[in-house]
Amino acid sequence: MWVPVRRCAARVVIPCIWRGKYFSSGNEPAENNRVTPMLRHLMYKIKSTGPITVAEYMKEVLTNPAKGYYVHHDMLGEKGDFITSPEISQIFGELIGIWFISEWIAAGKSAAFQLVELGPGRGTLTGDILRVFSQLGSVLKNCDISIHLVEVSQKLSEIQALTLTEEKIPLERNAESLVYMKGVSKSGIPISWYRNLQDVPKGYSFYLAHEFFDVLPVHKFQKTPQGWREVFIDIDPQVSDKLRFVLAPCATPAEAFIQHDETRDHVEVCPDAGVIIQELSQRISLTGGAALIADYGHDGTKTDTFRGFCGHRLHDVLTAPGTADLTADVDFHYLRRMAEEKVASLGPIEQQTFLKNMGIDVRLKVLLDKSDDPSMRQQLLQGYDMLMNPKKMGERFNFFALLPHQRLHGRSHQMNAQQSRPSASPVAGFDELTWR
Ligand SMILES: C[S@@+](CC[C@H](N)C(=O)[O-])C[C@H]1O[C@@H](n2cnc3c(N)ncnc32)[C@H](O)[C@@H]1O
Repeated sequence: MWVPVRRCAARVVIPCIWRGKYFSSGNEPAENNRVTPMLRHLMYKIKSTGPITVAEYMKEVLTNPAKGYYVHHDMLGEKGDFITSPEISQIFGELIGIWFISEWIAAGKSAAFQLVELGPGRGTLTGDILRVFSQLGSVLKNCDISIHLVEVSQKLSEIQALTLTEEKIPLERNAESLVYMKGVSKSGIPISWYRNLQDVPKGYSFYLAHEFFDVLPVHKFQKTPQGWREVFIDIDPQVSDKLRFVLAPCATPAEAFIQHDETRDHVEVCPDAGVIIQELSQRISLTGGAALIADYGHDGTKTDTFRGFCGHRLHDVLTAPGTADLTADVDFHYLRRMAEEKVASLGPIEQQTFLKNMGIDVRLKVLLDKSDDPSMRQQLLQGYDMLMNPKKMGERFNFFALLPHQRLHGRSHQMNAQQSRPSASPVAGFDELTWR
């Protein structure tokens, strides 16, 4: 028998939720309970084949090619549903650009590299990075750079093209191809768009994922006296046109993702994140490069973090699906576990620490000194506060990196414990190196 889940009890474990600009009490109203095209689609699906997993629900609601929230919306920024660090301050992207150049130098200045961004939103982050690449043209001269964007959203890919490409050079489009769009940046760098990471050429690459892993579908599980039971979504028998959470009557295959020694009583697992981390790790171990992942998350300690955002407010995840963003905290412990064999990992470390180590204070001072416009100065200071303040994004957001083992350990994986550790240059941003 499918057992109803008491939703409000689970929500209590998230006392204060942050995505974008505002704090919330967590007592989000279930207003706006209208029948959206997505709700109609999901009810039809559930009536035909039975309750669906939370992962299937997230995937349908966010990326269904016809009605998905990400596919046709521009949800970022003040007028959208949430705001992200690159949209808050140019300094964020500039420091990340410096990080990639620093890693490129530390790894021996390869003759070419690909910059691959997963889920690039409005293209703002890659735009800020490309500006740094242009400003440091003398350092990168003779390096053959190409940009590769992995994006499922038709709407956002159009905005990315507007942000990043030179309008005088027409875009090449081919919806049937794995590379569905091609263009050239304002500084003459080729840009290609893909729907899947697997389709990006396997060259020497630097990968970037900012607020990407948190939108990937999660399975949710609850510990019961009978063992782990997966949370599903069903139609509420009491109220037509309403969805509710239920527990599966027996074990489901996704339970295999739960660790045998798991001590929490509610867990979220994201197999898609595991697949992507394994793909990144495989690529980095074979061809070199690095991945930088920034997101809000935890180290395998949190329980129910699944939530919705609409108009900069928390939104009931089951209400008016398709009109609000759905997200769950990234489990960095799980990401590390998926990567460990093939590559080394650093972090997660808090955003405030990473940005401080990258020199955010110096960069802010330079920009303040250069500007005599009071409103610009105020904007710079407010942006800094939003990114760095521990009560805002400074603590909640984390940085995590994947690097070839040799990058951190020199050739230590070939040495025994008695031999001294070979020197490797520190990795910018991560002040304490984790020797794994
Ligand atoms: C929360 S937004 C973050 C945007 C941007 N990185 C930023 O920080 O401003 C998530 C991004 O990932 C994209 N996205 C969501 N699911 C995806 C998937 N399965 N594959 C590729 N892109 C996806 C969305 O369209 C959007 O561009």
